[in-house]
Amino acid sequence: MKYISKIIDSNDNKSSFNCGQIQLDNYLKFQSSQDFKRKLSVCFVLNNEENNQIVGYYTLSNYSIPLDFIPIELKNKLPNSYNQIPVTLLGRFAIDKSHQNKGIGKLLLIDALKRCYFTAMTIASFAIIVDPIDENAIEFYKKFGFILLPMQEKCFYL
Ligand SMILES: CC(C)(COP(=O)(O)OP(=O)(O)OC[C@H]1O[C@@H](n2cnc3c(N)ncnc32)[C@H](O)[C@@H]1OP(=O)(O)O)[C@@H](O)C(=O)NCCC(=O)NCCS
Repeated sequence: MKYISKIIDSNDNKSSFNCGQIQLDNYLKFQSSQDFKRKLSVCFVLNNEENNQIVGYYTLSNYSIPLDFIPIELKNKLPNSYNQIPVTLLGRFAIDKSHQNKGIGKLLLIDALKRCYFTAMTIASFAIIVDPIDENAIEFYKKFGFILLPMQEKCFYL
């Protein structure tokens, strides 16, 4: 099977997407295109190239976090003239149930991290922040080097 990652558009088949988390399914189906039009977040999909079926998706937006949320070892290396630190929010991330446990989440996370890395060369972003939906999601992100922020239920990746 060949996959392609790209910004969501009206040809993508969203209706049957089911990742096991209804909020994430509904976001893709009912809100992702509106958010994109309003420039609130960009939704990237991973599609099966043969039938345009969405296999997974994630969203990216500009974001900032207070300097105090940064782990102390890193905070000490930053100038204290910045109250807010620019970061990128990986707001939502999901793989369709029929494709879970096949390494596709790993593939799509690398795709997202690469995109963030290259964008940060022209629009500065200190780190990537994720908002895990539950304990399982925290474990998934930790596996790839994300750190749980001390004062937030968010994870952080440098
Ligand atoms: C969490 C999720 C994205 C994982 O996607 P996936 O395609 O099943 O994951 P992969 O098969 O690529 O797994 C990659 C690695 O992560 C591990 N992993 C997967 N889910 C995990 C979990 N919940 N906890 C810990 N590790 C996990 C796998 O064991 C695998 O490890 P390996 O590389 O050593 O073999 C997917 O289960 C999902 O969409 N869940 C519902 C929505 C959700 O929780 N989104 C998370 C962000 S809010």
